[in-house]
Amino acid sequence: MRRRRVYQYFVCASVLVYIYYFFGVCDYIFSKSYDDNFDYPLSIDIRPVVNEVLSGKKPSVAPINLYPYRFLSNSGKCSTLEKLDLFIVVKSAMDNFAKRNGIRQTYGQENIIPGRIVRVLFFLGIGDSKSITQMRVDREMADHKDIIQIDFHDSYYNNTIKTMMSFRWLYEHCSTADFYLFTDDDMFVSVKNLLDYLYDNPSTSSANEIESAKNNKMVVGNERDGILFAGYVFNSSPQRFSWSKWRVSLDEYPWNKWPPYVTAGAYVVSNRCMKLFHVGSLFVKNFRFDDIYLGIVAKKLGVKPTHCSRFHFYKKSYSESGYQDVIASHGYSDPDELYRVWNELNKS
Ligand SMILES: *[C@@H]1O[C@H](CO)[C@@H](O)[C@H](O)[C@H]1NC(C)=O
Repeated sequence: MRRRRVYQYFVCASVLVYIYYFFGVCDYIFSKSYDDNFDYPLSIDIRPVVNEVLSGKKPSVAPINLYPYRFLSNSGKCSTLEKLDLFIVVKSAMDNFAKRNGIRQTYGQENIIPGRIVRVLFFLGIGDSKSITQMRVDREMADHKDIIQIDFHDSYYNNTIKTMMSFRWLYEHCSTADFYLFTDDDMFVSVKNLLDYLYDNPSTSSANEIESAKNNKMVVGNERDGILFAGYVFNSSPQRFSWSKWRVSLDEYPWNKWPPYVTAGAYVVSNRCMKLFHVGSLFVKNFRFDDIYLGIVAKKLGVKPTHCSRFHFYKKSYSESGYQDVIASHGYSDPDELYRVWNELNKS
């Protein structure tokens, strides 16, 4: 009888221990309060330092986050003299030839909106340099001259490298666009609706910009420079479950909430914001999820993300009337579907 009891206790305790670790219970209990005292390395106010860099001075604090990667290709897409309305950065994977072609034939066509100068570039990492894939990418680069390849190994957890290296490329090579859209190669995008949102509708664009400029008191520089960081905004918490692809340990991120962040997939930033993010990121430790990383950098800069419900984080199911207002929607990994939907909406 006694033995049996002991055995039962043992099983019971094992189950509890298992649950404890499996659900990351202790990580939830011991996480620190975001609202009370959020901090993230570097533990300094980065705003004055960012200001120094943007005004051409040597920063008083050394950068901690310089990615040691190079751009393997360039593109004549941007001259520093030409004023662009919109620059579209498409994050793509080497293998996604069909998706890139689908984009070139749809929203990535550059000169289809009268009076607007729009440029599109794809950003890729590398794989095996002698592979057939690389040979095909080389040919594609020669044909289209719209690919920037960066020499880091392309993988899910290296996403932040791709994103921040593209910010760096823009900062160094194409800093003359009013706005920059960052998007993945599996999105539907309406450039026309995006431009309307950014330029034509005072209740969204300029009002928002002035509003965020006011909220961002620090503002590095002056208020007329307009700071916009917009898309589908999430306010959520880290996942601590041991099985989650998105599990984050307390060592990596000890706080119980994420800063508000715009989900990757599609987001737009103003010129000023692009520069702030690039320079700010030099002083903010890397984090492997790119959208959260930008949320952290934004928080440290005092930039408030603007939620815009016309960016769809979940796929918005298609109907012609339902899509009149859509700026971007997830869920277009089939280029034929993108082609069909985009053409139906753009027939004239
Ligand atoms: C990220 O890229 C670097 C540089 O190519 C590489 O050394 C590293 O293994 C990559 N990380 C992952 C998780 O693939």
